[in-house]
Amino acid sequence: MKTLIEPYRSRMVEPIRLTTRAQREVFIKEAGYNPFLLKAEQVIIDLVTDSGTSALSTAQWSAMMGADESFTGSRSFYRFREAVAKLFGHRFVIPCHQGRAAEHLMATALLNQGDVIFSNTHFATTRENFEEAGAETRDLPIPEALDPNSRHPFKGNIDLGRLEMGIKQLGAERVKFVVITVTDNSHGGQPVSLANLRGARDICQSQGIPLFLDAARFAENSYLIKLREEEAKDLSPRQIAQAMFALTDGVFLSLKKDGLGNSGGLISLNREDWAEKIRVRLLVSEGIPTAGGLAGRDLESLTVALDDSLDEDYLAYRIASTSAFGQKLVDAGVPVVQPFGAHAIYIDRRAFCPHLKNDQLPAWSLSVALYLEAGVRTWETGNVMQGRPDPATGQWVWPDFDLMRLAIPRRVYSSSHLEYAAEAVISLQAKRHEIKGLRFVYRPPVLPQFVSTFEPV
Ligand code: F0G
Repeated sequence: MKTLIEPYRSRMVEPIRLTTRAQREVFIKEAGYNPFLLKAEQVIIDLVTDSGTSALSTAQWSAMMGADESFTGSRSFYRFREAVAKLFGHRFVIPCHQGRAAEHLMATALLNQGDVIFSNTHFATTRENFEEAGAETRDLPIPEALDPNSRHPFKGNIDLGRLEMGIKQLGAERVKFVVITVTDNSHGGQPVSLANLRGARDICQSQGIPLFLDAARFAENSYLIKLREEEAKDLSPRQIAQAMFALTDGVFLSLKKDGLGNSGGLISLNREDWAEKIRVRLLVSEGIPTAGGLAGRDLESLTVALDDSLDEDYLAYRIASTSAFGQKLVDAGVPVVQPFGAHAIYIDRRAFCPHLKNDQLPAWSLSVALYLEAGVRTWETGNVMQGRPDPATGQWVWPDFDLMRLAIPRRVYSSSHLEYAAEAVISLQAKRHEIKGLRFVYRPPVLPQFVSTFEPV
């Protein structure tokens, strides 16, 4: 059959409040032109993130009913530990409350002033945590990742040549570990291939440097490998995920994305001395080692999710529905990052609103315009999120990309919701030259996107 159907049905519904443009003009002004500061009920279709927003399955809910909420040593933790060990394959399993908590634990337990961390691209919170601990972060995406016209199937790959050279120039002892983010959220949600991971593993192993994954979207990366890498075409998503993890010394991740959790994070690793150090930090800031600040209910839900998210029918639908959404925009001439990833579609504002200058925060302004147009909330991954004044000169340094991301929560919206969002973008495209820029009114020194306020220029 030609029609794409969701491989699940809804038995519980949450009403959406419809709003008018006049109402939205008031709401966004009150929110300081920051979509993060809107109340969720002021939004019609919420594509701000795929994180913590998944709909839970009947299997997750029923496991939660049987959770063990003992303070320590709960049955729910041991079930979680077994499922994690089976999938990720490392010796030590450390739960925590979300991805940035895992990053904070890695940073405070392991990093010292002067350490260098190489990555394909550090996610914003990862970079912040590592740099606050005194380390230097260096991104080494392949050149194709920065070329909007390239159709390279694995634009998330790390540049192996530059990695090898970077380690040689610094000396291996300065490089505490290498982190590969799967999928690369900051560059369009692009996947990393098995061949690339193997190449990175070989370089790291020859230099005695541990290789980690920031594996927040491990299931989607696995399925994109299945579709795009010949050697994996007959493997199941679970087998591919296991093959990825087997190349690493450890992973840290938010379980709020492919982990289908409303909260949750994880560190899974092989080195006992590092696990010890991380557990000490965990006790101080997160919780006891058999909970990491999570309820037994969370652990039960996350345990089931490790099966749910690797289900082949679900992943095939997820990738096909994101592609159908992206294709609708491409067919209407909207400049979208290609090939499509899995969790989101990204619009390249440099092509969408070239009339706006970097300091007019174009992708952010586009996001505000889309909210006004149709009540669709999105996320900017560009000048607001990654732009920084140079500490020496005070001059603004702008990132390689200024993108607007339409992230698709898992199992939440139907095809008609996505059609509505696509229609909104297409209708905005027709009058894109009227989109006005914005400037900062308030900007905190770190992670500015969440709390900054703006005014039109
Ligand atoms: N790593 C990646 C690749 C992420 O995308 C995120 C979060 C984190 C780490 C941090 O995890 O939110 O659980 O603390 N990304 C969200 C997003 C916020 O919308 O892309 P967290």
